[in-house]
Amino acid sequence: MNKDPNDPLLMDHEADGIRELDNNLPSWWVWLFVLCTVFAVGYLVYYHVLRVGPLQAAEYQAEATQGDALKNAALARFESDVATLKPLSDAVALEQGKQSFVNLCAPCHRADGGGLVGPNLCDPVWSHGSNYVDTVQVIIHGVAEKGMLSWRGVLKPAEIQAVASYIYTLRGSNPPDPKPPEDPSKPTVPMDFE
Ligand code: HEC
Repeated sequence: MNKDPNDPLLMDHEADGIRELDNNLPSWWVWLFVLCTVFAVGYLVYYHVLRVGPLQAAEYQAEATQGDALKNAALARFESDVATLKPLSDAVALEQGKQSFVNLCAPCHRADGGGLVGPNLCDPVWSHGSNYVDTVQVIIHGVAEKGMLSWRGVLKPAEIQAVASYIYTLRGSNPPDPKPPEDPSKPTVPMDFE
């Protein structure tokens, strides 16, 4: 209702001196509103009444399954090629391996590889075989009963290679106060090994 003879659009209510103009809504706004409403009805019917489309959780599941399949395929490829792997020597990979070692392995093997809970990785005594491939295998599978974690699926294949290659460079580095070998009769490797 408008009562102001000077401005037919001005409505008669007022709040703190603020008054309202009875404008028509702009047609673009009205159309937007109508379209949104139509969309909302369609959305509701599609997803929640007919349940044709996957909801967020199902979509996430599908993507996660796809991602897992990719990851497992990459790991399987890596594992089938393990026997042919050689230590990497490029500086970028070794630096990345060092980062992983310091962050993830040092708590048990000490930052210089001298050993804490885990064995010394710098001496010639290796419980699980002394060559590079043995090292990669231990990192992949861990030694659950002794507390060495499995890094399968935690580290990517390239990261496992990098950290294994970094450890390889620690061999023979003679850090101070190293952990003595638990079983000195285990396989040893000459310090000038390849
Ligand atoms: C929670 C502690 C812990 C962490 C973290 C850990 N390790 Fe170990 N690791 C061990 C223990 C304990 C052993 C000894 C297993 C055994 O005696 O059979 C071991 C053994 C190993 C061996 C075999 C040594 C040998 O003598 O044959 C390698 C290689 C190794 N770890 C590498 C790594 C790398 C690389 C990481 C990080 C990505 C890592 N470890 C993280 C505890 C750990």
